[in-house]
Amino acid sequence: MSITKAIFPVAGLGTRFLPATKAQPKEMLPVVDKPLIQYAVEEAYDAGIREMIFVTGRHKRAIEDHFDTAFELEHELAQAGKNELLELVHSIKPSDMECVFVRQPKSLGLGHAVLCGERLVRGEPFAVLLADDLMVGETSVLKQMVQQFEDLQGSILAVQEVPAEHTKRYGIVAGQMQSDRVMDVSQIVEKPAPEVAPSRLGVAGRYILTPAVFEQIRQQPRGVGNEIQLTDGIAGLLRSEKVYAYRYEGKRYDCGSKEGFLEANVELALQHPQVGAWFKQYLLGLRLD
Ligand code: UTP
Repeated sequence: MSITKAIFPVAGLGTRFLPATKAQPKEMLPVVDKPLIQYAVEEAYDAGIREMIFVTGRHKRAIEDHFDTAFELEHELAQAGKNELLELVHSIKPSDMECVFVRQPKSLGLGHAVLCGERLVRGEPFAVLLADDLMVGETSVLKQMVQQFEDLQGSILAVQEVPAEHTKRYGIVAGQMQSDRVMDVSQIVEKPAPEVAPSRLGVAGRYILTPAVFEQIRQQPRGVGNEIQLTDGIAGLLRSEKVYAYRYEGKRYDCGSKEGFLEANVELALQHPQVGAWFKQYLLGLRLD
């Protein structure tokens, strides 16, 4: 079986980015010149996925519009002969990519958001991408995971080593390493304190899940923060199916936090073909003390 569908939960409240997220989802915040959600969609497309399922909240329009045709803009760019820009706008949604939207009526938690995509996944294994985790890798992180799935044929969680004092920010896994990068997971805990964390491997915002996870999410009571947690659903899944953790190659920017968002902007701006050289000179000229 291969992975053809991805769920993008974009219905969070984004309170850490208020006021920027008062009237738009945080996934529309741009890093340099591209919204976070577009980086994630491009990553899924690069991994061979063509069906993109967005679980939207109260700011549904902004995401729908971004992946829809913009008649007026395209007409004006065509009239003005701005073909490069026209191509750029067209490339947001390649013709073989399908976008579907489903509503999460209330922000009840990530597990609940994933559950909202159940019907659209139609009983197949699927990917979940949290666009506020911006992932950069020589081979894109989801592509690495899809390649692992070809062998493992089970749920796979992207993980990275996190500092002990940060275990409280992540789902933390423990288990048996099968190889350098793949762990057979036996335990997963949401946001444990460092003293009780079973390891320092924290789950990042990329998952491949089997459809059995839906029933598990449904069976869980409210978890940490009184939210329906995806981690708790995965903990349930562990009891009946193999779940693997994959130590990905690449870098993650936590763009749900101001610090990670600023790091992503600085580092991606330095690599940007148009502004990178200028930005480096600009930074070097700043007197920081
Ligand atoms: P976060 O835990 O970062 O929550 O969600 P949040 O509400 O977006 O942001 P803060 O903490 O208030 O600043 C992780 C991911 O899960 C989605 C978010 O959109 C984000 O991609 N999410 C979360 C939902 O889609 N629905 C929810 O009910 C909760």
